[in-house]
This record gives sequence, C-alpha cells and structure tokens, in this order.
Amino acid sequence: MNAADLFVKARTAAGKAYAPYSKFQVGCALETQGGGLFTGCNVENASYGLTICAERNTIFHAVAEEGPDMKIATLAVIALGHEFPPCGACRQVIAEFATPETVVWFLRDGKPVSMTMAELLPAGFRI
Ligand code: THU
Repeated sequence: MNAADLFVKARTAAGKAYAPYSKFQVGCALETQGGGLFTGCNVENASYGLTICAERNTIFHAVAEEGPDMKIATLAVIALGHEFPPCGACRQVIAEFATPETVVWFLRDGKPVSMTMAELLPAGFRI
C-alpha cells in the first residue's frame, strides 16, 4: 500500500483515539511483510502512565493476528492537529518487529516524511 493510503487509514484510526487527558488524537497504520494491514490509536488512562501510544497499540494487534514472526514493512503515524515522529518508546517497539529497511512515515510541516528504521533508531537496545 502506498504512503498516501496508509496515512488515510492512520487518520481514520486517529479519530477513534481515547484521549480525554492530552487531547492528542493519534492514529497509526502499518502493512506487514505478509501484506496484512493493521490500524490503531492511542488509548489513555486516568493513571497516565498506563496510556498506550497508537504505534504500540497497532503493533501489538498485528502480533496478536499474525503471530510472533510478524515483520513491519511500512508504518505511518499521524496526529489530528499535531505533527511528530514516533516517540522513543515506540521506536524501540517498532524496531523489535522491523528490519533496518522498514519505512516509517510521519508528517513534518504538512508534508509526508519517511525514514528507515536504521535512521529512526540508529542505536537501539538489542540483546
Ligand atoms: N502518543 C502516541 O500515540 N504516539 C506517539 O508516538 C507519541 C505520543 C500519544 C500518547 C498520549 O496519549 C498522547 O499522544 C500525548 O502524549
């Protein structure tokens, strides 16, 4: 799936966010190497630290559906009214299910920007 279509899916997912505390509605869409498509949004909690970001919610859903060998081919993240790349915690979780060539899309100054996983997290934790 091309980036524009992935952003459309991510934006739709952002509209489903449960974000009464931050009001940041974030959506994510990813395509797996097997061709599976998954979306997710952030889900907040009154105990703020229990909040889950859109990216991790999406990835965990993809693993639950495709199993532990799930690999991300492309991922897009978008927020309604805001722009940012995936947070550090999500970069580490994306990396767990990515290859160095996995492409991550986000918006900057209203335009789609892509980075490979190697660019997004060049020195991630590994065991
Ligand atoms: N959030 C995401 O969903 N993804 C990110 O990469 C950064 C932050 C969410 C978490 C929280 O619900 C809100 O945005 C504000 O931090």
